[in-house]
Amino acid sequence: MIRVILVGYMGSGKTTVGRQLANTLGVQFYDLDWYIETRFHKKVAEIFAEKGEEGFRDMERRMLHEVAEFEDIVLSCGGGTPCFFDNMDYMNSLGETLYLKAAPEVLAQHLRMGRTERPLIKGKSPEELEQYIQESLAAREPFYSKAKHIVDVSLMDNFERINITIDLVRKELNL
Ligand code: S3P
Repeated sequence: MIRVILVGYMGSGKTTVGRQLANTLGVQFYDLDWYIETRFHKKVAEIFAEKGEEGFRDMERRMLHEVAEFEDIVLSCGGGTPCFFDNMDYMNSLGETLYLKAAPEVLAQHLRMGRTERPLIKGKSPEELEQYIQESLAAREPFYSKAKHIVDVSLMDNFERINITIDLVRKELNL
């Protein structure tokens, strides 16, 4: 049975790597944000606006417990998922957790190019974004680092490199 759970900061490529990894392994891919959005017929940004971050974190935890029990999956979490409640310990108890680690400059670059609306960084100038990433990454790192595996994805800046990353991830996971 395969159950791989990807964690890491916003913009670290959890969804891109997760989807491709699931494809390669022939298992189902889940993205926790998409799962929440489908289940509640609402965008993450709308949930933040209506219920605040606290409300979102409660839903996120409940949905994590629903989806992480599925078998033969690759699951990509939201960037904040490991950092609330006992979520990281819970994920570690269920599967092979893997932290996609990247430097703040790389994350900032990915986030500036991204199309997803992310409530935590909405409206920030490039300088504010870099500053925010540095501070919040430092606060989150202890949670991410509890993952059973860590792969550096700082070099994943184009498609070819995604395949290299997938190879690295598979090697790390012995899959
Ligand atoms: C968040 C990351 C987002 C999403 C929400 C909060 C965070 O997911 O869950 O906007 O706290 O880092 P991605 O990491 O997929 O962007």
